[in-house]
Amino acid sequence: MTQNLDLKPLDNILEAKTTTPSDLIPLLQQIQTAYGYLPQQVIAELSKRTNIPANKIFGVITFYEQFHLEPNGKHTIRCCRGTACHVKNGPKMIDAITEVLQIEPGQTTEDMKFTFETVACLGTCFLAPVMMINNDYYGHLNKNKIQSILESYS
Ligand code: FES
Repeated sequence: MTQNLDLKPLDNILEAKTTTPSDLIPLLQQIQTAYGYLPQQVIAELSKRTNIPANKIFGVITFYEQFHLEPNGKHTIRCCRGTACHVKNGPKMIDAITEVLQIEPGQTTEDMKFTFETVACLGTCFLAPVMMINNDYYGHLNKNKIQSILESYS
């Protein structure tokens, strides 16, 4: 897919020099905030202008869950795959979300409504099994609950 993005936000970030190229993580955070994700074209340009090899930049992007190479859907679902949730049927909740939305973790629905991610722990183990949609927590999940929660966002 050919992209033709406005590079002005990248210019502004690099010119503002609030961070140096060696601070790759804050730099990528600023770019993601400006674009909503990390477009390949912008990463290639960032590599060219900072002399940071593209493979190093992509290594950082793929290591941290906070970074996205594709635009996110309107709502971001984060379902916990941590131990406390795992022992309370967490994997079945992940399957239920996949079944309802017809997407796997890491994917976005075609209508761009939902992006589905799994995370190592949401820090609310007492709610296990738990997921977040945007900034809201939903705990003690079961398959029916998931179905109606997702419907309420549709
Ligand atoms: S293990 Fe799921 S919230 Fe901590």
